[in-house]
Amino acid sequence: MPESYIQNLFAERIGGSQYGKSTAIYKFEKIKRAKRAAIAAHPRGEIIDMGVGEPDEMAFPEVVERLCLEARKPENRGYADNGDAALKQAAATYLDQVFGVKAINPDTEVIHSIGSKAALSILPAALINPGDYVLMTTPGYPVFGTHAKYYGGLVHNLPLTQQNQFLPDLESIPANVLAKAKVLVLNYPNNPTGASATPEFFAKVVTFAKQNGVVVIHDAAYAALVFEGKPLSFLATPGARDVGIELHSASKTFNMTGWRCGFVAGNELLVKAYGDVKDNTDSGQFLAIQHAVAYSLQNPGITEKIAAKYSRRMDALVEVLSRAGFDARKPNGSFFLYTRSPKAAVKQDGTRVEFHTAEDVSQWLITEQLISTVPWDDAGAYLRFSVTFIAPGEQEEQRILGEIARRLKQVQFIF
Ligand SMILES: Cc1ncc(COP(=O)(O)O)c(C=O)c1O
Repeated sequence: MPESYIQNLFAERIGGSQYGKSTAIYKFEKIKRAKRAAIAAHPRGEIIDMGVGEPDEMAFPEVVERLCLEARKPENRGYADNGDAALKQAAATYLDQVFGVKAINPDTEVIHSIGSKAALSILPAALINPGDYVLMTTPGYPVFGTHAKYYGGLVHNLPLTQQNQFLPDLESIPANVLAKAKVLVLNYPNNPTGASATPEFFAKVVTFAKQNGVVVIHDAAYAALVFEGKPLSFLATPGARDVGIELHSASKTFNMTGWRCGFVAGNELLVKAYGDVKDNTDSGQFLAIQHAVAYSLQNPGITEKIAAKYSRRMDALVEVLSRAGFDARKPNGSFFLYTRSPKAAVKQDGTRVEFHTAEDVSQWLITEQLISTVPWDDAGAYLRFSVTFIAPGEQEEQRILGEIARRLKQVQFIF
């Protein structure tokens, strides 16, 4: 690109005059490049993609039908702004029926989002002043922290370790950070660890928030995707609505990632502030999509069917990985299996490859075995296998899992 005065106009938050000049390659780009190289090297080989973070299937046919119907209604055509009553009402009923969250006021305690990512990018504008701390878990979904930093905020990372069941240690926060902490961002079932929270942990969070004057934002993108027992909402915790809000999304729970719709619910004042900033950010999701999401929320059996598929795939994957020597444990929710990364691999011809990071392993798995994963080195070296690999039907699913087993058998992993 030719030099341009525009280069000197970029805001410091995206790198200022150095914007776009870094040669660092980020993790997800590295994975993409390695995948492209593997395809080029093995044009007839089959890549098994366990790296994707979204469902492998379409929204259910009845939801698509509903969208078609709603899209034909003239009254749905215009700016939706902060939404009409349909999704708000459906969300309040859904929270009650699926999570046992009682008496959410649909008028004052719910507003839709154009996906949870959008909500996480909007909320810092409502809460963060320069110098305010955000408590984030790591590894994790960074969007709130990224935008908080845009506003001059600071991020304090709380590591998620196996030893702590992948729950943050709230007692580990230094006093000087705590004094300036304004927001705690949580996400359970968790991406990438697959871990679930407990009612006891959420109760501790409410006490912590009240004692320290902190707002809690619970990103519940995978909330209803559980394999056993009832899904858990932070809002079901006594006192939760005094301290925070919860972000729900149709993306993962209803196979609707591209539709871009979810909702924010909980503390009335926080919902109102979210709505005010949102109103100055977007003009709302297409009402036809909101109404199709409302229909989905009225049919939580859809999520149960999706969860049953992931559960079946998880059982098989745990077996395959365990046989290959991994310490693979089935999570209770999400579609992510997070497991300790090996330190080395010995091939059948005796050659040994040493790995220093999970990223090394992930690159090796895609290059040598055509298996794509996502590495995490933020709090120990771990690999994330997603069970959203493309496999229409159970027979195809078993074939792919058999193929993973066959490939992994060709090496001995050292942990
Ligand atoms: C933890 C977490 N939060 C939020 C999102 C984004 O969800 P949405 O599609 O609703 O924007 C994702 C998507 O990967 C996620 O993993």
